[in-house]
Amino acid sequence: MTEFVDVVVYGSSGRMGQAVVRAILESDKARLACALVRPGSGLADEPLDRVFGTLPRLVDFSTSLDPDVRCDVLVDFSGPNAFDAALALAVQRRAAFVSGTTGLRDEQRVALERAAQTIPVLWAANFSLGVAMLLRAAKRVAAALPDWDCEILEMHHARKQDAPSGTALALGQAVAESRGTTLPECAVFARIDKTGPRKQGEIGFAVLRGGDVAGEHTVLFSTEGERLEITHRAASRDIFARGALASALWIAHRAPGIYSIDEVLSPAEI
Ligand SMILES: NC(=O)c1ccc[n+]([C@@H]2O[C@H](COP(=O)([O-])OP(=O)(O)OC[C@H]3O[C@@H](n4cnc5c(N)ncnc54)[C@H](OP(=O)(O)O)[C@@H]3O)[C@@H](O)[C@H]2O)c1
Repeated sequence: MTEFVDVVVYGSSGRMGQAVVRAILESDKARLACALVRPGSGLADEPLDRVFGTLPRLVDFSTSLDPDVRCDVLVDFSGPNAFDAALALAVQRRAAFVSGTTGLRDEQRVALERAAQTIPVLWAANFSLGVAMLLRAAKRVAAALPDWDCEILEMHHARKQDAPSGTALALGQAVAESRGTTLPECAVFARIDKTGPRKQGEIGFAVLRGGDVAGEHTVLFSTEGERLEITHRAASRDIFARGALASALWIAHRAPGIYSIDEVLSPAEI
């Protein structure tokens, strides 16, 4: 008999939350234990059919997790303001915690590490295989071409809340580490007016917003006479949802600790 992994989705009315719910409903390994929405949400206590079409069994959107409902993994795609409650719920239920929420504050990262003493935790700025490869490629190029200028460009849909994206920051962090420094030491988040010449070693970020772009990231390496650009384009949120579900299945019964998306996706070495 198949042993299903019971997954609770936090922020299930959102763009990513809905994509994760859809991925779970299509999975033969995971079961949707509960689709959580914020108290006061227009979807509270509504049947999931309202959003996802007719389903084989009755599930409602809910504002709280019934103590009798089994929860192996809590998947969170909400926002920094909802994140603390999502993490607290996972700790309280001793469930594994998978989160893709970006724009986290430093103290929230510390809370993730504290939680990892009692539950398995996996946070990723990006759950796509292509971005996992982009990160590795950017690190390799940054180390191989230490004198080349590196800049990072990202574009997302018009309603994105945080900037630069968590993925752009993760890319910047990876490049900075490859060059023996840290992002706070070398990041330039805005250039305006008389900035003067570019300083050697800085990493500049450019942010574009518009339409329904699911996520595009380019890491540019430039020197006199040539430029190398490595770009990832997400055509839909389904790739992130599939990565988050793969992470949920992978982490479900692991020991407490911090895990990384690289361990789940295991792309070939480059
Ligand atoms: N790691 C990745 O691969 C990846 C990919 C894409 C996006 N993201 C990140 O995932 C997060 C969600 O993105 P999105 O585009 O899905 O945003 P979204 O459409 O705005 O969805 C956010 C969800 O969180 C809920 N929420 C917000 N505040 C809440 C609160 N205080 N209590 C309970 N629920 C609350 C919202 O409920 P209401 O609708 O009721 O407000 C909504 O369901 C963002 O941080 C985004 O940057 C990560």
